[in-house]
Amino acid sequence: MCGIIGCISKKPVSDILIDGLKRLEYRGYDSAGIVVLENGVFRSEKTAGKIADLEELLKDQVFLGNTGIGHTRWATHGTPSTCNAHPFFSCDGSVAIVHNGIIENYQEIRNELIKKKHRFLSETDSEVVVHLVEDYLKTHEPLKAVRLSCNKLEGSFAMVFMFTDYPGLLIGARLYSPLVVGLGKKQTFLASDVPAFLRHTKKVVYLKDKEVVQINKCQMKVVDFRGKKKDYQIDRVKWDIQSAEKEGYAHFMLKEIEEQPEAIRRTVNYPHYSTLERIRNKFKDVHRVVLVACGTAWHVALASKYAIEELARVPADAILGSEFRYAPPPLDKNTLVIAVSQSGETADTLAAVRCAKEHGTFCMAICNVVGSSLTREVDITLYTYAGPEISVASTKAYTAQLSLLTLFAVYLAKAKKTISPKVERGLLNQIKTLPDKIKQVLSERDVIEKCAEAYKRVNNFMYIGRRNNLASACEGALKMKEISYTHAEGYGAGEMKHGPLALVDGSFPTVAIVLKDRVYVKMLSNIQEIKARGGVVIAIATKGDKNIKRIADWVIEIPNVSEILSTILIAVPLQLLAYYTAVKKGREIDQPRNLAKSVTVE
Ligand code: AGP
Ligand code: GLU
Repeated sequence: MCGIIGCISKKPVSDILIDGLKRLEYRGYDSAGIVVLENGVFRSEKTAGKIADLEELLKDQVFLGNTGIGHTRWATHGTPSTCNAHPFFSCDGSVAIVHNGIIENYQEIRNELIKKKHRFLSETDSEVVVHLVEDYLKTHEPLKAVRLSCNKLEGSFAMVFMFTDYPGLLIGARLYSPLVVGLGKKQTFLASDVPAFLRHTKKVVYLKDKEVVQINKCQMKVVDFRGKKKDYQIDRVKWDIQSAEKEGYAHFMLKEIEEQPEAIRRTVNYPHYSTLERIRNKFKDVHRVVLVACGTAWHVALASKYAIEELARVPADAILGSEFRYAPPPLDKNTLVIAVSQSGETADTLAAVRCAKEHGTFCMAICNVVGSSLTREVDITLYTYAGPEISVASTKAYTAQLSLLTLFAVYLAKAKKTISPKVERGLLNQIKTLPDKIKQVLSERDVIEKCAEAYKRVNNFMYIGRRNNLASACEGALKMKEISYTHAEGYGAGEMKHGPLALVDGSFPTVAIVLKDRVYVKMLSNIQEIKARGGVVIAIATKGDKNIKRIADWVIEIPNVSEILSTILIAVPLQLLAYYTAVKKGREIDQPRNLAKSVTVE
């Protein structure tokens, strides 16, 4: 949570900070603030609310400082008020901080500092750090003061500091929260994520955990928490700023839904097979797969379990990141753990991987963000090439992850010799047809929009499916909940009669996933049971299915596709239904209340 940015430039930085914060707003949006160093003193503005509110405050002011830091918050400790908004300052006003993460031992440190007469102005955990650094600055220079402070902190952090006594100096530090350096020609940046400075530079350094970076004008030095000098690698970002802009779309979510054909094409056309071939032996002996993820990515895990079990004949489980470390499954050297994450920064997923690594288990990541924390902790990463996903609700990352994991299931089956070359070729060819099929689904948007209009006032939705499309039902319900704030439940269709049927009436529509697959007849019966009790049914069905048109109230068609790949096509109408419902309800599509895109706290 939280977006942080810092910039040292030859020109005033306040506009750069605000622009950067807007691009990080997906990470948190309950309060915001900036500070610049102007004529040897800090000049700061902060407010509860969004970056637009901060911009409003700044509109008639001229900020001249060439060094500054900024923050957009997702509160963990203390209400989202102006006084809890970052940046925070030391008692003598000479140090400023922005922080992303949680300082778990803040109370203890705060008590110690209060004894030393430090005054606190907020309820946050973050504020203790700036006072701690102030304390160390009495006897040490800034880099060492930050480093010593880091050693006292427990929890997670990415932080940037600036100092009135050292103009043109920024110091950043990270532990389990992302921090990236951007190296421009005339300016240098520190930020939580690349889009914050991408319009200025594509040259980046991804800091590692337990590193502190000192940026002095254009010079950069990295040390670890013990003060040992560290080498760093300069990478070049492959995508450009357009990918992180709305480009005329009303919302990032709609843009990202429409980008799915391209996201999948890029993902499946990448030569993942050659990456996997390098460690073929590892896969040959896998006798159990454990998929771990959170939220939407967990639904990917749940759907992929079926593909892996069916094709590679290996038992597979999908475990929630937040459960894994408290109830780890049996793990051994022939277990493969697959962590699925768009951001690669989700704290619970990272904790699960760390727990698996402690058991000596081989870990693979399916991830969309190059250089993210997850990709550093695992043994191998297969990247989705979905491009930056800005909307809090995940769409293109979801279908790209599903496509990539199906590709992996085919590879695993090949390595374990459980499918014939003919079946393998057939599936790979089908995967390649997905982008065109998604385009066909996108053309159903009018009927989906009408359906959303018809049910925009209902308070509840049920989503039902079977097998891998039980995962689709859960994902459809999650999309509906998170962006339209309408209660929705994903349920196994066969389970309805064991309880939820009691809920069904004319004001509680059911979205049923009913494809021409092995559970088709069973799904038809479940739908009949709902209709017999006066329920409304919105069916997502195979194109040309006449039976379903006779039974369901609404039918949204998807092209014929093999069962294993159907989750990828099904996702699209479910995303659009949630999207249009949220639009018609006037919701904040890209930034739903109470949420943030990367959940970097437990
Ligand atoms: C998606 O719509 C969600 N907002 C959320 O569930 C998300 O998928 C989850 O937090 C996992 O994020 P990750 O893929 O970046 O790990
Ligand atoms: N813990 C800090 C706060 O509440 C930072 C929040 C975060 O990064 O999520 O302000």
